[in-house]
Amino acid sequence: MLTDKLRSLMVVGLLAALLPVVVSASEGESFPHAGNDVRNTASLQRGARNFMNYCSGCHSAQYVRYNRVATDLGISDADLKANLMFTSDKPADTIRSALKADDARAWFGNAPPDLSLIARSRGTDYLYAFLRGFYLDPSRPTGMNNVALKGTAMPHVLFDLQGLQQAVYAPAKAGVAPVIEKLELTTKGSLTPEQYDDFVRDTVNFLDYIGEPVQVKRRDLGVWVTLFLLVFAGFAYMLKREYFRDIH
Ligand code: HEC
Repeated sequence: MLTDKLRSLMVVGLLAALLPVVVSASEGESFPHAGNDVRNTASLQRGARNFMNYCSGCHSAQYVRYNRVATDLGISDADLKANLMFTSDKPADTIRSALKADDARAWFGNAPPDLSLIARSRGTDYLYAFLRGFYLDPSRPTGMNNVALKGTAMPHVLFDLQGLQQAVYAPAKAGVAPVIEKLELTTKGSLTPEQYDDFVRDTVNFLDYIGEPVQVKRRDLGVWVTLFLLVFAGFAYMLKREYFRDIH
C-alpha cells in the first residue's frame, strides 16, 4: 500500500522534472546558439552602446533605467551622458524612444515593440537569428525580408554594417513553397561577417541582461541557498533521528 503510494509519487516527481525538457523541445523552429554571456561586462557595455545608437531611435526599453545600466555595467556618469543618453537627460529616467507608436504604425505598418522583455519572450537564439537574418526581397515595402520573422515590418537598420544578403533557394519541388537554403552576402558591409556576428551577439547580450538585470546575482545566490538547504537537511535528519531514538 505504502510502496504503491511512494511509487506513484516518484512517477509524478519524475514527470515534473522532465516537463521543462519536453516543453523546450517542442518549441518549434530551432536557431543556432547565440552564445552570449551575461557575465561578460565588456560585451554588455558594447551591447548597450549598440542598442542606444542603433535601436533606441525606434524601440523603448521602458522597464530599464539609464542609471541602473550604468551602475551594473560600470559606466561612469560622464560616459553615460555623453555616449548613451540620446532621448533623455535624467539618469533616473527609463529608456524611452522618441518615436510615437502611431507614427511608427503609419510609417512601418507596425509599431516597434518595447524591448525590455523581448529576450525572455522570444529567446536569445531567436534574436541572434533575427538580427542576422535580413535578406533582399523587392516584394516587401522595405525591400527586405527576414528568415526568422517572415514579412517583418522592421527595416534592416544594420545593413551598412552587415552588407546585403540574398536568399539562395533549395531546388524547387512541385506543390511545395520555395525553401530558403542559406543566405549569401552579395554586397559587403563595413564589418566582416565575424565582426557582424560579434556585434549582434553583444546586442543580444544586452537585451538578455535588461530582460532580468539581477539574473547573475540570482544564480550566484541560488547556489548558496541550495548548499544551505542541503546542509540544513543533514541537520534536520540528525535531529529527527535523535527524537525518534527512544520511540523505535
Ligand atoms: C527604423 C525603426 C527601427 C529600428 C532603428 C529598429 N527597429 Fe526593431 N522593429 C521595428 C519595427 C517597425 C518592428 C515591428 C516588426 C514587425 O512587427 O514585423 C520591430 C521589431 C523588432 C523586434 C521584434 C521581432 C519579433 O519577433 O516580433 C526585435 C527583437 C527588434 N525589432 C530588435 C531591434 C534591435 C535589436 C534594433 C537595433 C539593432 C532594432 N530593432 C532597431 C523598427 C525598428
